[in-house]
Amino acid sequence: MEGAAILANNIKKTYTSKKIEYVALKGVTLNVKQGEFVAILGASGCGKTTLMNILGTLDRQTTGELFIDGVDTSTLDDNELCTIRNQKIGFIFQSYNLVNYLSALDNVLIPLMICNADTPEKMNDAKNLLTKLGLEGKFQKKPLELSGGEQQRVAIARALINSPSIILADEPTGNLDSKTSDTVLEILTNMAKQSKITIIMVTHDPDIAKLADREIHMKDGLIIKESKSSIKKSK
Ligand SMILES: Nc1ncnc2c1ncn2[C@@H]1O[C@H](COP(=O)(O)OP(=O)(O)OP(=O)(O)O)[C@@H](O)[C@H]1O
Ligand SMILES: [Mg+2]
Repeated sequence: MEGAAILANNIKKTYTSKKIEYVALKGVTLNVKQGEFVAILGASGCGKTTLMNILGTLDRQTTGELFIDGVDTSTLDDNELCTIRNQKIGFIFQSYNLVNYLSALDNVLIPLMICNADTPEKMNDAKNLLTKLGLEGKFQKKPLELSGGEQQRVAIARALINSPSIILADEPTGNLDSKTSDTVLEILTNMAKQSKITIIMVTHDPDIAKLADREIHMKDGLIIKESKSSIKKSK
């Protein structure tokens, strides 16, 4: 378990809706090292988002164990889980999930507001992050006044503001054109390399998956194949 940012052991997830049970995860075991960049691939409906939600403690598994930085999450109550989620994990979603009535700057500060840590110092951090991501001069814009790529960069800044050790990105470039997608991926991978952040990223795109250290292929609620990336990274 040592050095593992995330250790998932035989995770199963059954959804029950209208008395009908659906087994979305059938026993997923995954060990992601600190600083590792893992890509998750698989057809629509195979359980990728379900797995990401469980790894990020947004949802609980039906059975199986989940350790985050060596801590068994089953021993934590909802408050403790919330603290881990807020301080250790940054989420990036396909649909950005920004709050439309808040400015770009305030969207970045959301994770800090949640734990009353939105100090003037942190406000500066947020501005620096947005500037690094090419959004200088757009701090006060609302999400709908920004392009898709700009909104996703605000979401990345929000995911990074608490200096998380783990980033969970569920198709972060799914809604972006290929040029903007490249920019977003470069930002993400560079930041991860510099700060040794662990990244788990869902993607449909095999070329994007090649940027990762390891590819994990899922089918029908199971991991069916794993491969190390063949591309030698320049950074
Ligand atoms: N809340 C829910 N209740 C019932 N079934 C669900 C629920 N969420 C997901 N499922 C089912 O679980 C399966 C896996 O869903 P999931 O969202 O994890 O797929 P995915 O791999 O992320 O797909 P996509 O690539 O389309 O995003 C699907 O068949 C879906 O219908
Ligand atoms: Mg999904």
